[in-house]
Amino acid sequence: MIFRQLFDPETSTYTYLLADERTREAVLIDSVREQFERDVALLEQLELRLVFALETHVHADHVTAAGRLRERLGARIGIGGKSGVRNADLLLGDGDWIAFGSHRLEARATPGHTSGCTSYVGDGMAFTGDALLIRGCGRTDFQEGDARALFHSVRSRILSLPDATLLFPAHDYHGRSVTTVSEEKRWNPRLGLAQGEERFVALMQGLGLPYPKRMDEAVPANLHAGLAPAAPPRAERVAELMDEVGRQDAAQWQGAGI
Ligand SMILES: [Fe+2]
Repeated sequence: MIFRQLFDPETSTYTYLLADERTREAVLIDSVREQFERDVALLEQLELRLVFALETHVHADHVTAAGRLRERLGARIGIGGKSGVRNADLLLGDGDWIAFGSHRLEARATPGHTSGCTSYVGDGMAFTGDALLIRGCGRTDFQEGDARALFHSVRSRILSLPDATLLFPAHDYHGRSVTTVSEEKRWNPRLGLAQGEERFVALMQGLGLPYPKRMDEAVPANLHAGLAPAAPPRAERVAELMDEVGRQDAAQWQGAGI
């Protein structure tokens, strides 16, 4: 197995490359549009053929490169069936799997951060998206977020895996890269086995997190595999632009509909 963990520093997003050494068939999980050329170059250098561009969910913080990877390399796009993405090639349900060479990844429905969240499991590893982060979890206050659903997903579909299973999240904001089932069962302050459901739900409801900066651009684009035109800027974005370039210029920009 060929395996690479790639990082987008702007959004702290991990992209994972998995490939079969013999057939050279490769899978990318959670690609990032701004890292498209980096990932295409790596695939070329390793002499790999991208067969699947998988998404763990419709991201709110970055735009996926999946659509471009399909256009350039012919990869098939796979995402959870409840994600709402209309132009995917594979709408994966719980227990479905994809194969690349002699390897398989099983799709496990892990809703709660979004209703379509899917984790991918194979070769002693699990790619958990935003369902389970290292010592944390994804937020549940937008995009069909449901703390109760997340609690049960993580407990029944991720923390039920063998203790030594390596867990790779979609993000880490503290310089960590990987964890294990046993570590998270013991040390995750939200979803570890010592924590109860009611406490978790109350904690998630009280986080009071800010609105994600790129959500208005990222979600509509990702519902079309990253290929949709950017959404028009929100009023807040116009205000930011006015700060950046001065009121006179910004007034012209508004007039131009930017
Ligand atoms: Fe997310």
